[in-house]
Amino acid sequence: MRRAQWKAASRAAIALTGVGALAAGMAMLLAAPAAAGTTLGASAAEQGRYFGAAVAANKLSDSAYTTILNREFNSVTPENEMKIDATEPQQGQFSFGAADQIVNHARSRGMSVRGHTLAWHSQQPGWMQNMSGTALRQAMLNHVTQVATHFRGQVVAWDVVNEAFADGGTGARRDSNLQRTGNDWIEAAFRAARAADPGAKLCYNDYNTDDWTHAKTQAVYTMVRDFKQRGVPIDCVGLQSHFNSGSPYPSNYRTTLSSFAALGVDVQITELDIEGASAATYRSVVQDCLAVARCNGITVWGIRDSDSWRASQTPLLFTSGGAKKPAYDAVLAALNNGSTPPPTTPPPTTPPPTTPPPGPGGCTATVSVNQWTGGFVATVRVTAGSSALNGWSVTITLPTGATVTNAWNVNRSGDTGTTRWTNVAYNGGVGAGQSTEFGFQANGTSTGLNPTCTTG
Ligand code: G3I
Repeated sequence: MRRAQWKAASRAAIALTGVGALAAGMAMLLAAPAAAGTTLGASAAEQGRYFGAAVAANKLSDSAYTTILNREFNSVTPENEMKIDATEPQQGQFSFGAADQIVNHARSRGMSVRGHTLAWHSQQPGWMQNMSGTALRQAMLNHVTQVATHFRGQVVAWDVVNEAFADGGTGARRDSNLQRTGNDWIEAAFRAARAADPGAKLCYNDYNTDDWTHAKTQAVYTMVRDFKQRGVPIDCVGLQSHFNSGSPYPSNYRTTLSSFAALGVDVQITELDIEGASAATYRSVVQDCLAVARCNGITVWGIRDSDSWRASQTPLLFTSGGAKKPAYDAVLAALNNGSTPPPTTPPPTTPPPTTPPPGPGGCTATVSVNQWTGGFVATVRVTAGSSALNGWSVTITLPTGATVTNAWNVNRSGDTGTTRWTNVAYNGGVGAGQSTEFGFQANGTSTGLNPTCTTG
């Protein structure tokens, strides 16, 4: 019996008295439906992760398909239904029916949803393919805004930009009509997405970014580092991880995951499939993710082999008939044997609050708030005094009823009442007179927020 099940059994047994009651209790437990440790989603959840699948709306009427989906997975990515051609087939005319169908299916069953994708050179509708320059930039930003707004509060993470780097050894951006609107198109898309849905994690997603030594991987890494340094709102990196003979699982995959994570972003394996579905390779991928605290979820790109975009490679965890493959058993076992702690926000390591030092040093904090009915986003600006900062801490007392639900570019301690916010690795150094920003989202009202800043 696994540890968690054993604990549950022990708790239930203690609640019963007498040998007969104990026996009855154990029998009841043994008869209970399988849960933690016996499905991909439940086992991943025990490790603080999700396990998801790409889902096609037109398969939701296939009961063999939904039986596996509903039993095994706790996250869903619409395979095509949120793409630009699907959601804005004519300029300014949005179509969310198929995507809503998937979102409703998932959320009504407690599954989370990854959004895929807001800005991409591919699967553009005809009207967009024919655009360029300022008109295209505006159309792209409007698309990001409208779609992220429609799904606001329903999508936990967005692939804001997909596949913007070229293959090969150059590390260059991929040429596309979007790229030709200016090199800043990616950060513009991220800023628009943050403004439209401040609660969603914003990811950059790409393929062939699994091998740490590849120029494309390094180019994406450099962009993410630059975004974090400049405060461009990015929270996660998606590694698609389509593995096959031409693009095999690399032995340095774990290095890639941990290196991105060290930039202060979550890492998600977003489109996993493996030609031939080697159990050993699937096991390695899961073990690599579990070894990196900020690798917080894995999505396979389809459920059964017949659902795959590469069906002839039989790359998934279930046969076309819906049977579990050896790779499934390997993944489940790897999830159940994982022993690393779940990916949580690292606990703050700063000392208790002290009175701001007098004199020329020190720091100040100001806050601007975007309030709506029932919630708000606060953007806090930390400004160094006449000396450079090497670490800072901000205290904010929230009004009664306000609860923090999400934060970015900061470590936090406390979600209600008096909350403390400290710099993360990349924004503790602030030059004299310079500023950095962090943000958080909360339920409730923002009345009377009054941040105070201390150094160190
Ligand atoms: O729905 C139409 C159908 O009406 C028509 O009869 C048929 C004829 O070809 O096409 C159908 O649309 C296809 C669609 O999948 C739905 O099956 C498109 O042609 C086809 O191009 C499309 O392929 C999708 C592909 O993205 C397009 O780029 C795959 O399903 C989808 O799995 C794949 O997903 C991408 C990720 O978004 C990004 N990373 C790579 C990944 C694999 O290519």
